Amino acid sequence: MADVKKIAVIAGDGIGPEVVAEAEKVLKRTEELFGYQFETEHALFGGIAIDEKGTPLPEETLKVCQSADAVLLGAVGGPKWDNNSKELRPETGLLGIRKALGLFSNIRPAFIFDCLKEASTLKPEVLEGTDLIVVRELTGGIYFGEKFRRETANGQEAVDTCAYSEHEIERIARQAFDIARTRRKKLASVDKANVLETSRLWREVVIRVSADYPDVELEHVLVDNCAMQLLRRPSSFDVIVTENMFGDILSDEAAMLTGSIGMLASASLGEGAFGLYEPVHGSAPDIAGQGISNPIATILSVALMFRLTFGYHEAADSIERAVKEVLDAGHRTGDIAVDKSTAIGTLAMGQLIVDAMRK
Ligand code: IPM
Ligand code: MG
Repeated sequence: MADVKKIAVIAGDGIGPEVVAEAEKVLKRTEELFGYQFETEHALFGGIAIDEKGTPLPEETLKVCQSADAVLLGAVGGPKWDNNSKELRPETGLLGIRKALGLFSNIRPAFIFDCLKEASTLKPEVLEGTDLIVVRELTGGIYFGEKFRRETANGQEAVDTCAYSEHEIERIARQAFDIARTRRKKLASVDKANVLETSRLWREVVIRVSADYPDVELEHVLVDNCAMQLLRRPSSFDVIVTENMFGDILSDEAAMLTGSIGMLASASLGEGAFGLYEPVHGSAPDIAGQGISNPIATILSVALMFRLTFGYHEAADSIERAVKEVLDAGHRTGDIAVDKSTAIGTLAMGQLIVDAMRK
């Protein structure tokens, strides 16, 4: 009997439950086609967990994730919880789950789907060939440093501390070099070494690690310049590695290059094979419940899970091919449709992809 893979499913808020439901159909179809077995367990997280359990990250949710082989996450957050105190915000749950599960590396691929070129705000000739991955450090830096307020003669002062240890930098650098090795062997390390001490250490450590990867071409790019180069020469980037906050900003920019944020998947990884997989897009509360959201990013997150956690490459190929086939046939959800009147809904898109999957 094939070994049963346990997947914690966190649907979350807004369009999360709709898009996750389609991804679960893809899991089912994979079982039928390839004979794999998945055991899914649903757990509450984010805004819905605040409403039902009084905390964005309930203890039992963490347990479900810790006993799983991988986590599939929809999206969390929404205006309903935006004015809550810090402890009762979905975002706090997100940071908490990353830290608790040791997910120090966030991988966000951004590439152009040929048939969706017209969806980008950039000129097609600038985008031509763009296929990059942002590797963002996820459990350190200013997000997790000491934070406090104090009274001063000039009124209140707020402090956010940015700290990075050599260990934290080295493990993310190695992961980025390893990924670059499987691709075009180019790594851009992004920092602000002309100003920040953490960036100077970052650069030192990355240079040291690079000695073990002589086959990977390394460039150092200052973050402001990188923001610019991403718009000017996106196709020249292969893998970008950077610290938490720079990565937050640059990965949104990179995603938007493709003009189809509803299409992009992401993985958050630790030391082993375990990973948390989620679409790059958010909970889109404005369209939640209408059945018009695009399930493709979540479906492609399943493909990424198959590749990075389970090593089910054939099944991942099958999903990615099905998505391409459905898009090539002209089917579009509203977010990627040029003529909105022809757009199809979440269920229809999910079904088309499931039907197009083949062994
Ligand atoms: C992301 C998000 C989160 C982050 C927020 C919601 C806390 O922007 O995953 O990129 O800043 O990490
Ligand atoms: Mg972000």
